[in-house]
Amino acid sequence: MSIREYTGDSPLQIGLLGFGTVGKAAEQMLEENRDWIERRAGGPLAIKRILVRHPGKHRDDARRLTVDPFEVLDDPDIRIVVEVMGGMDPARHYILEALRRGKTVITANKEVMSSCGQEIFRAGDVGRADIFFEASVCGGIPIIYALKESLAANRIRSLIGIVNGTTNYILSKMTHEGWDFAPALEDAQAKGYAEADPSADVEGHDAARKLAILASIAFGSRVTPNQVYTEGIERVTARDIQYARELGWSVKLLAIAKEGDEGLEVRVHPTFLPQDHPLAAVSDAFNAIYVDAEPLGEAMFYGRGAGGKPTASAILGDVVAAARNLRSGGRAVSCTCHRELSCRHMSEVSTGYYLRLAVFDRPGVLARVAQALGDQGVSLTSVLQKLTQGDQAELVLITHRAREKDVQAAVAELRQLAVVTGILNLIRIEGVV
Ligand SMILES: NC(=O)c1ccc[n+]([C@@H]2O[C@H](COP(=O)([O-])OP(=O)(O)OC[C@H]3O[C@@H](n4cnc5c(N)ncnc54)[C@H](OP(=O)(O)O)[C@@H]3O)[C@@H](O)[C@H]2O)c1
Repeated sequence: MSIREYTGDSPLQIGLLGFGTVGKAAEQMLEENRDWIERRAGGPLAIKRILVRHPGKHRDDARRLTVDPFEVLDDPDIRIVVEVMGGMDPARHYILEALRRGKTVITANKEVMSSCGQEIFRAGDVGRADIFFEASVCGGIPIIYALKESLAANRIRSLIGIVNGTTNYILSKMTHEGWDFAPALEDAQAKGYAEADPSADVEGHDAARKLAILASIAFGSRVTPNQVYTEGIERVTARDIQYARELGWSVKLLAIAKEGDEGLEVRVHPTFLPQDHPLAAVSDAFNAIYVDAEPLGEAMFYGRGAGGKPTASAILGDVVAAARNLRSGGRAVSCTCHRELSCRHMSEVSTGYYLRLAVFDRPGVLARVAQALGDQGVSLTSVLQKLTQGDQAELVLITHRAREKDVQAAVAELRQLAVVTGILNLIRIEGVV
């Protein structure tokens, strides 16, 4: 099915795949700012058809709604397809089909873009069609445009982000209210910041998908979510956060990507971060991405990472860019991956570590613990003994920079010691140790 040539003054026809939080917010933003947006887009825009699953639940003009995706994909008048239905399939299939038919695709779908980016760009090349995906990472923060275009002349050394609002909200509550994980999660769910099934957020998978997209663009080498070491925040306790604060750190779920001599480091995990680091001040459901680039230096992008309005802002920014291209005959930047870097295995990564142990409160315990760490080449910068109760105590250890493999071997050795009754937590530290 071919598409009709676009001739300028007539409305540019858009098809929406999905009409939930983001789809509805995008339509509302277009209606409320139509004149402004159309001036920037260079002419009128119209949403011609909307794909949903349950048309009965939408009060919208029934003539625009459809449950048949081919009423969008095969409509020769529709030049722009906005995919805001989410999930892997059938969204991936519809995106590919739209691109192969020569339609510009705008998507908010991080699941598809992080795992199938290469396949999507290839389909765009086949159909000579553009793909825009600003809304897929950090909603309202224009980080994809910044990395692809504004910083294109820089070499990115590292990119560190707070890219999941749900977990940042939970950790903020744990920090400021002293709550443990479970009540903080319940509060996030009650306020609409966390889904009924919060696993993709709290286990770090959502952040890993976003990091895969950002790292691919930042380093020009494709990264997929299965290459990102991923650990969630479920094991962080109010006590870990309290100790972190005493030591001058904040606890954040960080998405970290760095280029080194031995390839890329890509990881998502709870992290101790110095309290004076710009990311430490990012609270509640806000997102931020901190980039260190040569020659630019450091830059931080901050804003609302989710919600209807911020995400609609990214979608409509892409609609304006797409409309300009369709009217002028221009093309968007396609795939920017131009080399293949390997991703280092987590066991080879080096950071500082916070280790909290339950031990017997006896003379010589600290020496045994330090010996087990020392045997693996892991040295300590500080040790605090906390909460002595009866013959039990808690030891908080901070290590110098050490290799993950060595620290894990030391932890295995610690587990065997009769004086150690539990490994309570192990959290990595970002910044100077
Ligand atoms: N919500 C946010 O804050 C946010 C932020 C950034 C990115 N995103 C991304 O934006 C996308 C949409 O999110 P959302 O929150 O708007 O989702 P949502 O509220 O659940 O809406 C999904 C919409 O897609 C339709 N849909 C789903 N599967 C379908 C299928 N197989 N066939 C036809 N229609 C289908 C649904 O139809 P019915 O209405 O008939 O059920 C619904 O209208 C996702 O990729 C999400 O990750 C969301």
